[in-house]
Amino acid sequence: MTTQRTAIVTGGNRGIGLEVCRGLARAGVQVVLGARELAAGQEAARELAKSGLTVLPRKLDITLEEDRSAIAREARDAWGGIEILVNNAAIDLRGFDANVARTTTSVDYFATAILTDELSPIVNSGGTIVMVSSGLGALDGFSEEIRAQFSDPALTRERLDALVSSFVRAVEEGTHERQGWPSSAYGVSKLALNALTRLLAHDLAPRGVRVNSTCPGWVKTRMGGNSAPRTAAEGADTIVWAALLPSGGPSGRWFRDRSEIPW
Ligand SMILES: NC(=O)c1ccc[n+]([C@@H]2O[C@H](COP(=O)([O-])OP(=O)(O)OC[C@H]3O[C@@H](n4cnc5c(N)ncnc54)[C@H](OP(=O)(O)O)[C@@H]3O)[C@@H](O)[C@H]2O)c1
Repeated sequence: MTTQRTAIVTGGNRGIGLEVCRGLARAGVQVVLGARELAAGQEAARELAKSGLTVLPRKLDITLEEDRSAIAREARDAWGGIEILVNNAAIDLRGFDANVARTTTSVDYFATAILTDELSPIVNSGGTIVMVSSGLGALDGFSEEIRAQFSDPALTRERLDALVSSFVRAVEEGTHERQGWPSSAYGVSKLALNALTRLLAHDLAPRGVRVNSTCPGWVKTRMGGNSAPRTAAEGADTIVWAALLPSGGPSGRWFRDRSEIPW
């Protein structure tokens, strides 16, 4: 007897997330399509139904405690836990100031990290967590000071959270460039997500839960814009592939085009 796997995908209503939902549903996974606005999730579910794919739309604004706890409760009580969590939801705001830095890091890093903390205890053994990162989070795009702090082998979760908060503070104080930070809250958030991937991979290994990061490439979506060379389905390919890697596979790695890349 095979038991159907369950996946939660954040930001599943459009763009790359919608294609991740499609790919996982096609592979026979029960997909919970998380959407900031329930109506948008339901609309996306109707879209997938046209191709004969059934998914469960759920309201999941990753910044809202009530949405996160409702999904965790349903996952535990109704689905017997989950096998796959895809952290796809993100924002990339125009411009750069303290407000952009605060808002971007609070969605792209902190809310993603908190959701993962809350859901990881109900990821069943053999399951996997996939982060959707970006090439803009690659270490080599950052100054030596920043690289050293994020790649420090002694980095802890507390220190990582504090580093991201200190970036926001430095932007507020107008000192971020002097401290070696870039003027990209999106890049800092994705760099932090890659660091988090490695920390969680280590912490969750004893429970047989793998954690990997992915980069979809430059993809034609609302975020990526119309000049991007890749379709959303092409961007989703490596994410779906990583989500379906068999248990015992790699953990704590970063992949693009189904191949490992240096973080
Ligand atoms: N497109 C690219 O070229 C590219 C390149 C590298 C990495 N990525 C990454 O790929 C992922 C998907 O990006 P995309 O291009 O598909 O972007 P997109 O079309 O802008 O979609 C973003 C998704 O995230 C959702 N979202 C935003 N804030 C949320 C919140 N607080 N709670 C829940 N969902 C929220 C959006 O929901 P709403 O519809 O409600 O706004 C939407 O479903 C992101 O992590 C992005 O950083 C994209």
